[in-house]
Amino acid sequence: MTAAKAQPACDNVEVPGGRSRIAVVGLGYVGLPTALSFAGQGIEVIGFDVDETRLTAIKDSRVDLLPRDRTRLASALLDQLLRLTTEPSALAAADAVMVCVPTPVDAHLTPDLTALSAACATVVEHAQSGQTIVLTSTTYPGCTKDLLVKPLQSRGLQVGRDVFVAFSPERIDPGVIEHAPERTPRVIGGVTAACAQKAASFLAHTAGALHMVSSPEAAEMTKLVENTFRAVNIALANEFADAAREVDVDVMEIIAAAATKPNGFMPSCPGAGVGEHCIPCDPHYLLWQLRSRRASSPVVEAAMTAVAARPRDVVARAQRVLADSGPSVARRSDTGDGSDL
Ligand SMILES: NC(=O)c1ccc[n+]([C@@H]2O[C@H](COP(=O)([O-])OP(=O)(O)OC[C@H]3O[C@@H](n4cnc5c(N)ncnc54)[C@H](O)[C@@H]3O)[C@@H](O)[C@H]2O)c1
Repeated sequence: MTAAKAQPACDNVEVPGGRSRIAVVGLGYVGLPTALSFAGQGIEVIGFDVDETRLTAIKDSRVDLLPRDRTRLASALLDQLLRLTTEPSALAAADAVMVCVPTPVDAHLTPDLTALSAACATVVEHAQSGQTIVLTSTTYPGCTKDLLVKPLQSRGLQVGRDVFVAFSPERIDPGVIEHAPERTPRVIGGVTAACAQKAASFLAHTAGALHMVSSPEAAEMTKLVENTFRAVNIALANEFADAAREVDVDVMEIIAAAATKPNGFMPSCPGAGVGEHCIPCDPHYLLWQLRSRRASSPVVEAAMTAVAARPRDVVARAQRVLADSGPSVARRSDTGDGSDL
């Protein structure tokens, strides 16, 4: 069993010590490394997932993990620090529960809350007095209250007294050691001060630092700002790539030059995609919520339209460049055999 690490720096909260049994709901790209990060501190983890196939793959180590996490997984299973289950009642034995399930958008770019609603309903059903529940999936401001606080209160559990609820967005970059959970600062927004304190006390085991904000909504919005910032800046970099071509300069040369400015410029690179599956999706959680309030965010809307169109623009340009340089490019529909270009 690994010794517990020292508590991380926390810039605006006092973090008490202590350890507990933690349940992670959803053992995907984010949930599994998060669970292993706790288990690596010698903390008992209940890994709950609805997908039996995923749990079998985890047991057999047939999952995408950093080499370090692969070793942690083997030890956690051997030392029985990670217990994998599809049985929701197992959540009742946890002191703290982290919800880490997918939050995609549907074909109409509307948030698809199916998995999150189901996971929160399960957590609420099995919530015990004294438990701390932290939602970590990217979502809209107000979601923690809608899916956890109100249903818990309907069950007769008072949040801040009987159970403790917070939102703390996932920021890890699965597969990148520099951005592993224990190296990454966590933002935490509790429903009450007691909720924030309880969440901080267990998240401190697996965070580079803690930063407290005033509410779950502030923490939810923080994640949307982070990913929207990236979407807008990638859209801008793409636009600069087009502008640079017009004036016959190399966009990468100018981005590298601008990045030497010590303040006020953060480089983003142009490209066909935006690098991850979260960036084309997460800002739609904000746009959807704004639309429901008859508000809008024109810069974000334009950026999301531009990043969505970019892969097609890049293909069209590749076809033009190839056509200009000799070989012609067949369209998929032209090949007649269903093969890709
Ligand atoms: N993948 C990333 O790089 C990344 C980074 C930061 C934040 N996030 C956010 O983290 C959240 C999780 O993303 P992910 O990439 O880990 O998703 P994922 O699809 O890899 O895994 C989610 C897991 O949750 C399980 N699940 C679904 N419904 C469930 C339920 N009702 N109860 C229990 N388990 C359930 C699935 O079976 C799956 O194993 C999302 O909100 C995502 O936006 C992801």
